[in-house]
Amino acid sequence: MKLLLLGSGGREHALAWKIAQSPKIEKLYIAPGNAGTSEVGENVAIKADDFAAIKEFVVKNDINMVVVGPEDPLVKGIYDYFKNDEALKNVPVIGPSKAGAVLEGSKEFAKGFMQRHHIPTAGYKSITAANLEEGLAFLETLEAPYVLKADGLCAGKGVLILPTLEEAKKELKEMLSGMFGDASATVVIEEFLSGIECSVFVLTDGKNYKILPEAKDYKRIGEGDKGLNTGGMGSISPVPFADKEWMQKVEDRIIRPTVEGLAAEGIEYKGFIFFGLINVKGEPMVIEYNVRMGDPETESVMLRIKSDLVELFEGVAAGNLNEKTLEIDPRSAVCVMLVSGGYPEHYDKGFAINGLDAVEDSIVFHAGTALKDGKVVTSGGRVIAVSSYGVDKSEALARSFANAKKIDFEKKYFRSDIGFDL
Ligand code: AMP
Ligand code: GLY
Repeated sequence: MKLLLLGSGGREHALAWKIAQSPKIEKLYIAPGNAGTSEVGENVAIKADDFAAIKEFVVKNDINMVVVGPEDPLVKGIYDYFKNDEALKNVPVIGPSKAGAVLEGSKEFAKGFMQRHHIPTAGYKSITAANLEEGLAFLETLEAPYVLKADGLCAGKGVLILPTLEEAKKELKEMLSGMFGDASATVVIEEFLSGIECSVFVLTDGKNYKILPEAKDYKRIGEGDKGLNTGGMGSISPVPFADKEWMQKVEDRIIRPTVEGLAAEGIEYKGFIFFGLINVKGEPMVIEYNVRMGDPETESVMLRIKSDLVELFEGVAAGNLNEKTLEIDPRSAVCVMLVSGGYPEHYDKGFAINGLDAVEDSIVFHAGTALKDGKVVTSGGRVIAVSSYGVDKSEALARSFANAKKIDFEKKYFRSDIGFDL
């Protein structure tokens, strides 16, 4: 099989690493990829949302399957683009249709979907400039802190959590008047939920599903979960509180109703569903849906999948995922992200990365790297994910931290408290 993977981050390197292990793979291409993905496949200089260029490449190189890493091409309708094109319609795309991607592309849609299918989530109201008064009144009925979410995609920046009613009212008005452009023309106001978060992933063919290992990510830049939000500073899997009983609740109350709800609404969905959950006094509730794998969760989760991922993808495409097996590694897996000093605010790029050869007992996934004159250099805020196995999370973390110290670039920073709260 010739497989094309779209995307360029740590998630894609981890997916590529796992896909490349499949005996079914004759050739793996990554578009556009990064310096790390070029070690397990061949990078192609095409942007993940340049559909015309992707088509040309797929046709010319007899690609048999396309796997989509990030949400952007999905929300823009790459699944439908393939399905409706004579030359592409027989090439399966692993990812939801445009209608399915709205679960991530619109918070308002996601909340309505959960309400229709009785899936536990925070109470909410959807507000536009036309019913601002209703929004202000709804805020008055809530208790601090206040959660405001831009309806559309904002690269992870569209959620504001505000400590006072006054600030919430002010920010609501600002969001509606274009703080995030069109993405915040509609704002979802939500009840605040208190608890520990957990990311649960499934792979579905639209009817059957497989539950992948769950993970927890660490979003804030500072230790103790302080400071600004980032794209993710590390992850661990499994998550101790996500025991058998809790996961059964997740499956019964959230996963099955979601997959059945999509089918009942006639929404085609063949890909990953990412359930952003929160554990509220032992009960799982949905914070958000994403229509792709998480980053940096993938950099832990892929380590724990023992089965051939490509065979599972074939089941997704053929609609017989129920006939495939998913075997999970009982060990712990963790990921520690090395970032460029200054991130997530201003940071510089182009620093040479040294010490990659000295890494032992960890797997290095590149997040923001590039090749410059044959040398690996930094090309983003999040640079390298150091992933490790261990009999438990402490052993896995000790390995990742030891290797995080060996890899070096100017202004390197990482959180040394990943997993601290579990
Ligand atoms: P989202 O983009 O919807 O995942 O929101 C970003 C982050 O904001 C989440 O990962 C949570 O940490 C937090 N958050 C979102 N919604 C809520 C809520 N209703 N209650 C508490 N925290 C929330
Ligand atoms: N780790 C959260 C995300 O990928 O959105």
